[in-house]
Amino acid sequence: MRWNSGLACVAALLGLANGDVFKDPDTGFSFSQQNLQITTGTSYITIRIAIPSPATAGQPYDAVLQIVAPVAAGWVGLAWGGSMTNNPLLLGWLNGASGVTSVRRAASHTAPAVTADATAQVLAKGTKSNGTHWQVTAKCTGCTSFTTTGTTKKTLNPAGTNRLAFAYSKTKPSQPASGTSPINVHDLFSYWDHDFAAAGNAQFQDLVDRNL
Ligand code: HEM
Repeated sequence: MRWNSGLACVAALLGLANGDVFKDPDTGFSFSQQNLQITTGTSYITIRIAIPSPATAGQPYDAVLQIVAPVAAGWVGLAWGGSMTNNPLLLGWLNGASGVTSVRRAASHTAPAVTADATAQVLAKGTKSNGTHWQVTAKCTGCTSFTTTGTTKKTLNPAGTNRLAFAYSKTKPSQPASGTSPINVHDLFSYWDHDFAAAGNAQFQDLVDRNL
């Protein structure tokens, strides 16, 4: 028992447990988190998601994305529909002390275009960096409910898991101050099932307002 809780502590310190709830001291959000290994060894990108609670199934709801990435990451993107094409791609990167976000969309495996289908806003209090990592937090409206192809609509399940994908590039966007900057192709992508049931925040809107 003691051994197990010791291990849990180590995992918490390393931030390595997937599906765990991370209570962010900086922003106050409770995030459900996923750690994505990007090199052999201990280099991870962490994707954290917070949503309102309750959220009605089948209805759009806002979401907050927190990205924690090693300084070697130029940009990190989250594909809300779980693949590169036909869904909102929310990108984040660090520019000096500021976070930059951008929503893009691709119909094929070519550079995605900036889209107004969804809008993202950086939450300054959740954006920081140190010698090893940067962190950008952003609210997205339009990321959890979207058209895929034609008129087909997809709404992410607020009470279960949703298949997501991420991609990252070691190269920073060429105009890092601009959310419309050209970007380089990724160095890595992968997929996972993200637990949205653990991502609920009863005070969601208050927290958003407090963190702008
Ligand atoms: C200049 C920008 C980009 C280019 C040129 C590009 C190009 C490509 C290409 C050629 C593939 C196929 C690779 C293969 O099959 O091995 C691919 C796959 C993929 N890309 Fe991108 N990509 C770009 C940006 C992005 C962004 C911003 C995201 C997500 C946030 C993303 C997510 C993915 C994912 C998840 C895959 C796996 C296949 C799939 O799910 O469709 N890509 N990309």
